[in-house]
Amino acid sequence: MRVLVTGGAGYIGSHTVLALLRAGYSVVVVDNLSNSRVESLQRVAALAGRQPDFVRADITDKAALEAVFRRYPDVSAVLHFAGLKAVGESVAQPLAYYRNNVVGTMVLCEVMQAHGVQRMVFSSSATVYGDAKTVPVPESEPLKPTNPYGHTKRVIEELLADVQQANPGWRVGILRYFNPVGADESGQIGEDPQGVPNNLMPYITQVAVGRLESLQVFGDDYPTIDGTGVRDYIHVSDLAAGHLAALRALEQVEGVRAWNLGTGQGYSVLELVAAFERVTGKKIPYTVVGRRAGDVATSYADVTRASGELGWSAQLGLDRMVSDAWRWQRTNPDGYDKG
Ligand code: NAD
Ligand code: UD1
Repeated sequence: MRVLVTGGAGYIGSHTVLALLRAGYSVVVVDNLSNSRVESLQRVAALAGRQPDFVRADITDKAALEAVFRRYPDVSAVLHFAGLKAVGESVAQPLAYYRNNVVGTMVLCEVMQAHGVQRMVFSSSATVYGDAKTVPVPESEPLKPTNPYGHTKRVIEELLADVQQANPGWRVGILRYFNPVGADESGQIGEDPQGVPNNLMPYITQVAVGRLESLQVFGDDYPTIDGTGVRDYIHVSDLAAGHLAALRALEQVEGVRAWNLGTGQGYSVLELVAAFERVTGKKIPYTVVGRRAGDVATSYADVTRASGELGWSAQLGLDRMVSDAWRWQRTNPDGYDKG
């Protein structure tokens, strides 16, 4: 079975391509390399002992996508990771986010429909819940994102539901990731953010490796165990396995179905720092600063639906997330650039 993976050269996509190849799928990746390097796929190929096909193309380019679907008539499902994901940037450049994420998905759906491909697993985000009333957050929670990036994810979820409604043959899995962290245990592939990381784990690993001086903890006055924000960190390899489970579930599940992918367990910023220091022996200097605009106190997943319907649950705990993130950063201090 051949799967087309948009954004497959990126952080989560590359780990999922590795899992797909290992499970025996044929893979074609479509990526414009706007936030990744093709080296990630070369490393995936070395780890898997098999090559994914790669086409450098932008998903908003209909002619280019048409050419891919013509060249690979055996594609039977699409895993759709391609998109922009930086919250702050989305506030400054909303149109770029709507074009890449929403228009890109529209074009992809048009071309899929024209070629009779009607299965998709879409990368959504827990960001669609905004400041959720119920924690752990169930999939039934109203979608109230608080920034343009989150708006694009909600719009895409709605767009996919409308497409499926009009074309009942479509089957769509919507995966709402909580906080993906860590790296393949080989240390060969991992998260390689451009510039200063926005997210906590890559920030910590860059402090540990000496690229950044100290961590700023955004607020210690939240109503949490130690006052710092609590999140549901999930190992990227568990996330990759969740995609394979969703792909298999679409054999049975009709229509559109959303699943949370998290561990169901929350950790505070200071708990993550402490785990990192304990596991790696590296000291992480930090200072507490004010809250970051738009942050919520506590967010972790209700994972009942994913475990019941996908037969999937996260297997790797915080220590593995930390040690694998550190192995990747330590052996690739400058990411893929000098790796
Ligand atoms: P990433 O930036 O590493 O990967 C995205 C990939 O898509 C990159 O390789 C990029 O070059 C490619 N891309 C972007 N726009 C494209 C376009 N128009 N055409 C073709 N390729 C394009 O990000 P990631 O962390 O791997 O995230 C993958 C998906 O998961 C994204 O949709 C993101 O919004 C979603 N997500 C990520 C997180 C997270 O914390 N990493 C959390 C929730 C959801
Ligand atoms: C961010 C995104 C969210 C996205 C999620 C998963 C924002 C506002 N939200 O959320 O849309 O779905 O990533 O990728 O960017 N922290 C620090 N210091 C730092 C960085 C983070 O203290 O330098 C704290 C944050 O305040 C938060 C926790 O660490 O409490 C996790 O932050 P982060 O990794 O950015 O994830 P989210 O805030 O969950």
